[in-house]
Amino acid sequence: MPRGIPRVTPFVIDRASGAELFDHEGRAVLDFASGIGVMTAGHARAEVIEAVTSQVARLQHLCIHVATYEPYVALCERLVGLLPHGAATKAMLLNSGAEAVENAVKIARQATGRPAVICYTGAFHGRTLLGMSLSSKVSYKTGCGPFAPEIYRLPFPDFLRHGDGLSRDAFVHRELARLRSTLVDTVAPSDVAAVLVEVVQGEGGIVPIPGAYLRGLRGVCDEHGILLIIDEVQTGLARTGHWAASEHFSVTPDLSTWGKALGGGLPLAAVLGRADVMDAAAPGTIGGTFGGNPVACAAAMATLELMEREDHCGRATAIGAQVAGRLSELSARHEVIADVRGLGAMMALEFCEGGDPARPAMAFTHAVLARCHERGLLVIGAGPHGNVLRVLPPLVIGDAALARGLEIICDAVDATARGNQ
Ligand SMILES: Cc1ncc(COP(=O)(O)O)c(C=O)c1O
Repeated sequence: MPRGIPRVTPFVIDRASGAELFDHEGRAVLDFASGIGVMTAGHARAEVIEAVTSQVARLQHLCIHVATYEPYVALCERLVGLLPHGAATKAMLLNSGAEAVENAVKIARQATGRPAVICYTGAFHGRTLLGMSLSSKVSYKTGCGPFAPEIYRLPFPDFLRHGDGLSRDAFVHRELARLRSTLVDTVAPSDVAAVLVEVVQGEGGIVPIPGAYLRGLRGVCDEHGILLIIDEVQTGLARTGHWAASEHFSVTPDLSTWGKALGGGLPLAAVLGRADVMDAAAPGTIGGTFGGNPVACAAAMATLELMEREDHCGRATAIGAQVAGRLSELSARHEVIADVRGLGAMMALEFCEGGDPARPAMAFTHAVLARCHERGLLVIGAGPHGNVLRVLPPLVIGDAALARGLEIICDAVDATARGNQ
């Protein structure tokens, strides 16, 4: 394997169940990463296994362009029922989050007849060339250009880093003014097809957008006929306590992208959108061979059913409260913890020298992660500098297992801080 495929933990995993992973010697590892937000409904769920095995036996692959099959149509119906985008909604299926983002942009361009896309610093939208062009972190794209043109990047409204002593209201006001002036001095609104944004930046360091900013952004888009694309690939499907993270702020996008948790562990992604916008894409301009594979669709239907029956939205909220409580106690005794933040079961700790957001404590974070790994907790970093520890457990984790994982994090921070004295 090439070194371009990094491995960020030392674990070699053989099998998994619920919120636990097992190595080849049968040692248990507690999962606080969910395969980066994929195994939200838990590993090896009996209902998903049953749905997958019976679908494999019935119809394994066809390609939706070749002939119609029920699992594709049924999943689209389920998704538009769950996540309406205005009066009439349509859905299409793909393989990965990056592909969903690519297709959402292609649809937005056709619907508006405009070329430009506005995106944000800290954003992550995938590793295809357009996905990478829209993503922010430079070390993820070094040497891969030239990148796609007509992309304009605004600073993400990150209050911790760019609050500059303002009140939250004044900060949001300033950031919306920045957006408005970009449409005057950088790119004409009549050239902008879409604004693409995450409600909580995932790879960017679990940074929630201020709700008032998202609502203001919706207003600016409406004023100028710009489409709002919300990327729910990491936040979507119960993770933050709602099916869509945008529901926290009562904002409905024109288009949205989905992936990760959708396939319950199988590769599956989706674009949802207003029917008139979705239908602007000409036949043949969107789709693909594997998108909406019948087996992945069956896994998704079983996963969504599980999530609904077991109230994973409620569980995500409860997990978020337990994580926030424990990590806030920890933060009170360590200056190096600059922030505890997140939404629902998408939580994070940020480590900075002297608690100063301008001085990321990378070595400290790596030491904490390594200590967690030594004690059998699979937890990973995030953020442009990698100084954020993110907590993304499967939502089936029990309270005791969650408390055990949080204890390991607290011990690791305490021990690292003692070692630095
Ligand atoms: C918000 C967001 N969009 C898009 C992607 C890309 O998804 P994929 O890796 O499935 O292409 C990711 C992956 O982390 C993501 O977090």
